[in-house]
Amino acid sequence: MTTHDTTAQSAAPIEKKLQPFGGYYTNKVSGHDPELTETGAGTPLGEYMRRFWHPVCMSIELTDTPRFLMIMGEELVAFRDGSGQIGLLHAHCVHRGASLEYGKIQTRGISCCYHGMVFDVDGTCLRVPFPQGEEEEGERYRCSIRQGAYKAFELHGLVFAYMGPPDQEPPFPEWEGNFTVENGDELVPYSNFEHCNWLQVQDNSADNYHTMALHAKQQVTGEHFQGTTFDEVGAASMEVPPDMHFVPVQGGRGLAGSGARRSDTDHMFIRVQHQVLPNLSLHAYTSEDGKKKKHFSRFHMIRWTVPVDDTNSKMLGWRVMGPGIDTRGVGDKGMVGYEAIDFLEGQVAMRRPERFGHYTLDDIPPIPADHRARDNYKDCQYAPGDYEAMVSQRPIAIHALENPTKFDAGLYMFRKLLRDAVRGSNPQAGPEQFAQWLRDCGSQPNSYCSGNVFDLPVGRTTQEEVTLRRFLAKQVVAIISESESLRGQARTDFVKSKMALLQQDVLEKRHA
Ligand code: FES
Ligand SMILES: [Fe+2]
Repeated sequence: MTTHDTTAQSAAPIEKKLQPFGGYYTNKVSGHDPELTETGAGTPLGEYMRRFWHPVCMSIELTDTPRFLMIMGEELVAFRDGSGQIGLLHAHCVHRGASLEYGKIQTRGISCCYHGMVFDVDGTCLRVPFPQGEEEEGERYRCSIRQGAYKAFELHGLVFAYMGPPDQEPPFPEWEGNFTVENGDELVPYSNFEHCNWLQVQDNSADNYHTMALHAKQQVTGEHFQGTTFDEVGAASMEVPPDMHFVPVQGGRGLAGSGARRSDTDHMFIRVQHQVLPNLSLHAYTSEDGKKKKHFSRFHMIRWTVPVDDTNSKMLGWRVMGPGIDTRGVGDKGMVGYEAIDFLEGQVAMRRPERFGHYTLDDIPPIPADHRARDNYKDCQYAPGDYEAMVSQRPIAIHALENPTKFDAGLYMFRKLLRDAVRGSNPQAGPEQFAQWLRDCGSQPNSYCSGNVFDLPVGRTTQEEVTLRRFLAKQVVAIISESESLRGQARTDFVKSKMALLQQDVLEKRHA
């Protein structure tokens, strides 16, 4: 028998696709899952998504010229008219199709460059330039047309829009009233483009398994390190894979993912992420070193993954900045904005060294849709980040080819929640009941998102330590669930007192 002969190792025949050098048996690529990835008008997911408010661009993108946008496959223009109203209109003029991106912003509305028709932000045609003596006919024509329009508004530097049927408009949810911004903290907007389907970007939010590889220094080739890993920002505990506990919450409208990991011999760090259907994720402090007790620290990043079309998407959201959340003072506001974020390296296609700050609308170079065509391609190979991992999963990741581990449970659960919502098999997450739930809580739902550090010495045995991690991951979510009927400070006080009791309880049992 030669060393290459594997046939004698087992009596049972090896499944073809598991044969050594058997790539031939897995070289046929199946199709993507349209139900969870396609969001064009009229698709099941596209219809579901159009029942929610989404950010579509940053306020700074609204300048003295209209901004062309593609959202869920629809060509749109956004602008702020002279009276301060935000317009989001179908790009192609209802007259004969010229794009309103070449139009002129008016005191009220926008005029089309081709024949000068003027449209208000709600799509009303305000003016049709008919010749003298034919005003009456012009007026009849004016009243017979309407430009496609969507309701939009600005909040903390982002432009939000509702692209569904007007009579089904849901309330805009302000999570916990003001997104838990504490005194002195602020919501700093950003927008990062991803050249891939929206779902793999959303999947990444529930993928706690990747941080210990992708964001660790060990993943960087040689001395070519270009930027920041968790190790570099002193949050090395994030490089330890956590024990994860995922639970659908709030009637299956979202998913809480609680990860327990040891930050040092005296501290256990429990980080809870909250994902909300269809495309929101709320993230706890990303620079936590886990060295000091901390209970129920709140949002550090609030972001939506917005489909541009089926093979492009963008993350739009806010980084919460200031001493309330950023207890270690490592945030860098100068690095948060358009195509930039102060969070690790490799979040954006055209990463740039910190010393240059972030791009503005005017100086960002064209981003090639092919990630291998970037000037910085080799640098990105030396030190890849989330952008590289996500866009290289193919333009639309193919779920049928995946071989998930138990650590992928969170994103698989989120996909199931989404599928159930789209199919109507979980009516609570359907558009109507979702909107009613928001109205019932005054449009200020509670979030599970939190960072928690417990003063707890390491277990005396591996088994004790593992049991403790799993117990705490569950208990933290259970405490937050118990607080669901409370609001504001009363809820915070309740959660913090319960967490203090939990810590005390665990310590007493340890010493018993
Ligand atoms: S195409 Fe717009 S006014 Fe004619
Ligand atoms: Fe990541």
